[in-house]
Amino acid sequence: MKKTFIVANWKSNFTTKDATQWLTTFIEKVEDQDLALKEIVICPSFTLLPTVFMHLQQFPQLQISLGAQDISPFSEGSFTGAVNGAQIKEFATSVLIGHSERRIQFKEDNVILTQKITMAQQFLLQSFLFIQNEKTPLLPNANFFVYEPPSAISPGKPDTPENANAVAQMLKKQRNITPVLYGGSVTQENVQSFTHMPNLDGVIVGKASLSPTSFAKIVTYA
Ligand code: PGA
Repeated sequence: MKKTFIVANWKSNFTTKDATQWLTTFIEKVEDQDLALKEIVICPSFTLLPTVFMHLQQFPQLQISLGAQDISPFSEGSFTGAVNGAQIKEFATSVLIGHSERRIQFKEDNVILTQKITMAQQFLLQSFLFIQNEKTPLLPNANFFVYEPPSAISPGKPDTPENANAVAQMLKKQRNITPVLYGGSVTQENVQSFTHMPNLDGVIVGKASLSPTSFAKIVTYA
């Protein structure tokens, strides 16, 4: 049986106090579930990584891993504001790369994104590369693809599970070993319609992951 990936993308939300409260509620709701076939990844802001990491260390049996929302395209050195792969690796095992918010608001192009994937690879961090549509270049060496059309991101409308499955199938034709996740307005109500699709290996959840109760339900139904 294949594992289902359920990734929480908290985006630019939460203080350490909020994150601790979130974890307390979420863990209460999932600790008795059978999570053997579920791979939960939480992606908080950089400042929250140590807090979330230490909290999760108390629950090793849940095997929840941490992802960073970004990575510096450079190694350590004189790059003010950048958080490099070695720093991320202290707390996280994966990293999000090429989200449409980064491509549009932060003007990240394929050159920068390729450097970021290279850095992730160098520090043995798994990279989740976001693919906005059929024309998005499948940059080499990404470990996961996340098909997420920008129009589907909350408060937009989710893509249909059938179309997401068709895109995932097309991506797998080109790179058949790469798992494909769907993102864009995933909720507890629709998660199963995506995770039940044969070519989708999981989901990434933004807005609905900000409520620990909703995210726990998403984990249950995925
Ligand atoms: P959403 O965000 O679930 O709020 O649509 C998903 C994402 O942008 O990764």
